[in-house]
Amino acid sequence: MTDPDTAERPDADAAAQHRLAVERITEFTDDDLGALCEATNAAIIEGGGFGWLNPQGRVSLETYFRGVLLVPERQLLVARLDGVIVGAAQLVRPPRNNEAQAFAATLQHAFVAPYARGFGLARLLTSRVEDAARSLGYHVLNLDVRETQEAAIALYESMGYIRWGVHPAYARANGRTVRGIYYYKVLQPGGRIA
Ligand SMILES: CC(C)(COP(=O)(O)OP(=O)(O)OC[C@H]1O[C@@H](n2cnc3c(N)ncnc32)[C@H](O)[C@@H]1OP(=O)(O)O)[C@@H](O)C(=O)NCCC(=O)NCCS
Repeated sequence: MTDPDTAERPDADAAAQHRLAVERITEFTDDDLGALCEATNAAIIEGGGFGWLNPQGRVSLETYFRGVLLVPERQLLVARLDGVIVGAAQLVRPPRNNEAQAFAATLQHAFVAPYARGFGLARLLTSRVEDAARSLGYHVLNLDVRETQEAAIALYESMGYIRWGVHPAYARANGRTVRGIYYYKVLQPGGRIA
């Protein structure tokens, strides 16, 4: 896996030469689905393709992403670099029966393909997921991340996410148990939970 602290990141001039965009996607063109699957496998191979540890076949990934679009509680947001999908994140709403936590949504499965990193896409993606959650009336956004995902931890902490807990047996990767870090962010002005 690339060490996030030593991996070379594009400078601001390089980033300015690209078009960055984030949007919610509700149906796929063949090109979009192909690019999303390619970006997912690239992230898996690099070591951070959300839950997956091994690259997946195209049929399996296409089935997965088509399935995501069918889940009423999920919104799929995609990041585009010069028009091509290179990353994604999911906004997950609580199930209807969970009235006690109806104020909180979850950000899951965020990633940007290694070939599109360092341009600010993850920051834009996270911010758009927050906007979507806010516009749906949620007061809190929760997320969790493997402690080995140092770039993600730096991103979320720089965006005001509050670390509230550590799960000692959060994931198993490459034969070892990895801790998970849990975060929340209050989305409404003033940082208070209504
Ligand atoms: C985390 C990840 C999404 C960042 O994507 P990205 O598009 O390169 O991130 P951005 O360019 O928007 O950078 C935003 C911030 O993230 C942090 N960051 C990004 N890359 C970093 C790196 N290599 N080292 C340290 N911090 C980093 C910085 O705080 C950065 O802000 P800055 O540019 O002002 O310094 C990407 O590295 C990734 O997909 N990692 C694997 C999957 C993962 O960890 N997902 C999150 C949890 S499921």
